Amino acid sequence: MVKYVIGNWKLNPATLTEAAALAHAIGAMANDANCHIGCTPSFVHLAAVREILKHSSVWVGVQDIGAFGATGAFTGDVSAVQAVDLGAKFAIIGHSERRAYHKEDNSLLVKKITQAISAGLAVVLCVGETKSEYEQGETLGVLDNQLSVLNGLTVLQDKFVQDKLLIAYEPVWAIGTGLTPTIDEVVAVHRHIKANLQHLGVDDVCVLYGGSVNDKNAAEFAGCDAVNGALVGGASLKVQSFATIVEAFAQF
Ligand code: PGA
Repeated sequence: MVKYVIGNWKLNPATLTEAAALAHAIGAMANDANCHIGCTPSFVHLAAVREILKHSSVWVGVQDIGAFGATGAFTGDVSAVQAVDLGAKFAIIGHSERRAYHKEDNSLLVKKITQAISAGLAVVLCVGETKSEYEQGETLGVLDNQLSVLNGLTVLQDKFVQDKLLIAYEPVWAIGTGLTPTIDEVVAVHRHIKANLQHLGVDDVCVLYGGSVNDKNAAEFAGCDAVNGALVGGASLKVQSFATIVEAFAQF
């Protein structure tokens, strides 16, 4: 199965010059057919980053999209159609920071997923439990609830659409903290997610792990069959670390 290592740049970097430098560095990374590299600049840097990477195989995506329409009276939104027009290939949807700071819930996320799919974007749907949910043993139930946004999506019966759906398991308590679940816990969760999606008719969905992935721990995650790649925040802004993570996943 092809692996994906995707950089979630979040609200970084501060300047277009720095974003361009990062894009050049990623474009120069080894291009291994077994491991797709992706990056997600902020919307204001999207066009420039895409231009720099247009002859590379790096997948350029966005960190979010508007829920309500391709164009129209939706002040502040950026639509999937606009992102596609600038060369975006995928959208991260439902990241825990969007859920927390922007109060995104399942009903909104269904709309975003629908917008993304109809515009032809692949979707990286993020799911993950909080620290207290983890401690209470509620992880799988929380994930099932978050994954239920896919339940009513009839387009998921289309194999072409299925191939454009990725899930990122990101425990909220592991994001930016240096903490991670054990490998056994990650594998068990990924298997659960794959089984859940199988019930919806999606075979062997690609499941990425995210949350404090770095150049030191990437190989351990990469060595697990159930981990089909990584969604990388902080370490994706450090060229050497990101390159090491990509190499780790390209090896398997
Ligand atoms: P992190 O972030 O790698 O900095 O923990 C991951 C993410 O939020 O996608």
